Amino acid sequence: MSEQDRFSPSYGAYLRLGTLLSAQAPPDFDKLKADDRPSTRTREHAHHDEMLFIVVHQVFELWFKLILHELGHARDLLGHVGKERAHVAEEDVPNVVAAISRVNEVFRIATEGFRAMETMNPTSFLAFRDLLIPSSGFQSTQFRELEILAGLPEDLRVDFEGVPYESKLSPTERSILEHRRSEVSLKDALFDWLSRTPIDRIFPDFSDAFLTSFHVYVDEQVAHQEANPNLADSQRRAARVRFEEQLADARRYLTGGDDTQNRAHQAFLFIASYRAEPLLGWPSALVDALIEFEQGFRIFRFRHARMVERMIGTRTGSGGSPGVVYLDRTTTRYRIFGDLLEARNFLLASDRVPPLPDDKLLHFRFEE
Ligand code: HEM
Repeated sequence: MSEQDRFSPSYGAYLRLGTLLSAQAPPDFDKLKADDRPSTRTREHAHHDEMLFIVVHQVFELWFKLILHELGHARDLLGHVGKERAHVAEEDVPNVVAAISRVNEVFRIATEGFRAMETMNPTSFLAFRDLLIPSSGFQSTQFRELEILAGLPEDLRVDFEGVPYESKLSPTERSILEHRRSEVSLKDALFDWLSRTPIDRIFPDFSDAFLTSFHVYVDEQVAHQEANPNLADSQRRAARVRFEEQLADARRYLTGGDDTQNRAHQAFLFIASYRAEPLLGWPSALVDALIEFEQGFRIFRFRHARMVERMIGTRTGSGGSPGVVYLDRTTTRYRIFGDLLEARNFLLASDRVPPLPDDKLLHFRFEE
């Protein structure tokens, strides 16, 4: 194709702004029979602020689209394209870190977007809120896809009145989620990859050696609290019980699950313990990026709930849930990479971790 024949799109044509910018007028449901939907018929904004309400939601949906794109890419690079298991090229690990870091930044920016919504006075929202019922962010298919793709366990979900969240979705939307659930999640791909870390070759007795060091640490902590003049005897006893439970938790964390889980947990602690070793640099950056993802997702939920509280108090949501009460329950209950956070319970300062049997094995090797 010659340079002359080549179609040169304008800015607006390339970005399809005609389509994008004509989608801010709400559909006119009043004039429609159910079987007319979806329809191109639209109505005027019922209130000046309805434009803000629609644009802010649409911007979020665009960010969700990008997040799904990046999480899917990260999952594929981690060795799972769709349902198939593939080889993980070492040089792809930095690309996984880049994808998750991008997601984290987008989450942070998106969360800031709630500030724009808060420029709307609650009474202005009330002026058009009833027109939205029964629609709700609860029906955001992309948001559910995001939770599923990242690896939110289904049994953690908070339902209201025993009705599954999917009951509010159309058959097409439900089949999108079904398809997502049939794929490997980012979390499962991560566990699978990390469970293959050759710790047995680098440090065959790592779990036992780590637990011994952790035991020494716990004994010292107990001694500190026994000598703490600010505690009553009952508080000292309670502190001792908590420390002993931590020791049991550490053992359970490293050895109490199935093989993949144990090996992945050992890998989390191993990577965190020896993170300064050159060959663990990228795995350690990946774990940090995923912990930030976990934190960012929870901050998103918390921030949304605070915005909702400010806007509608504790009213029932437009989707029919108990509103803020429901949203706060999701914030405290939902964990995707909770296992990574749990490893933080057992970390030791670098001079307390058991020394590696071969202190050069995880160094870069430059041939003469
Ligand atoms: C005035 C603004 C908003 C209000 C009053 C509001 C209110 C609510 C309420 C009460 C719920 C719980 C379900 C229900 O009963 O409806 C909910 C869920 C949800 N909202 Fe909003 N929302 C607002 C803006 C937004 C924005 C801008 C987004 C960004 C996409 C969003 C995304 C979501 C999502 C994803 C859920 C489902 C959360 C879950 O089930 O974990 N909301 N919203």
